[in-house]
Amino acid sequence: MTKLAIIGGTGVYDPRILENVREEEILTPYGAVRYKVGEYAGRAIAFIPRHGSKHSIPPHLINYRANIWAMKKIGVQAILATTAVGSLNTDMKPGDFVLINQFLDFTKNRVHTFYEGGERGVVHVDVTEPYCPALRQKLEKAAKKIGIAIHTKGTYVCTEGPRFETPAEIAMFAKLGGDVVGMTNVPEVVLAREAEMCYATVSMVTNYAAGISAQPLTHGEVLDTMKANTENIKRLIMETISL
Ligand code: HPA
Repeated sequence: MTKLAIIGGTGVYDPRILENVREEEILTPYGAVRYKVGEYAGRAIAFIPRHGSKHSIPPHLINYRANIWAMKKIGVQAILATTAVGSLNTDMKPGDFVLINQFLDFTKNRVHTFYEGGERGVVHVDVTEPYCPALRQKLEKAAKKIGIAIHTKGTYVCTEGPRFETPAEIAMFAKLGGDVVGMTNVPEVVLAREAEMCYATVSMVTNYAAGISAQPLTHGEVLDTMKANTENIKRLIMETISL
């Protein structure tokens, strides 16, 4: 049984870190999900590139429910997700890793739940601690062990996208206590909680957010920083898995 899954964000598309990789597909009530399964340190690990293997799915069109449902169905108990983020906090610089522990939800048009009444009922899941403390601890320990500096707390602001934010929005998010901004962590984290899975995200700062950075943002800038740090994020994931 596959107990752990990696959901790779922007820049983390291929599970080359895994051995004996095979591709599989599973049908969920929300559509089919293609994922890969491989091995690392003697464990079966599933892998989903959140935006598709060629980055063709924008944040607002990701089938979050299908992805989480599929992982639950194949027996996954813990999900380690990566996300690329902009920073609103000048202590969190491009290239830094942040182990987010809270989120602010500014998405607009997404389905956030498996529970839409009817047979499944109405469920109000607790998100006092949205991210799994056990997996967060492992990530922190792994980062220390391999000498990667990591911010151990941070509030993730999730926007609808796919556009970047206005400087006025970023100023507002900073006033509300946001540290980093991205477009994908909600509803992913919420659905994982509803599915009673241990879920943690390591965010990689790829840029200063709009208005904090002197120049207009480009997706190329995000990809360049991500590329420069792909090795580190892979090392962090692999070390975490082997702990
Ligand atoms: N805003 C939103 N999402 C992002 C950013 C950003 O600045 N950088 C990477 N993902």
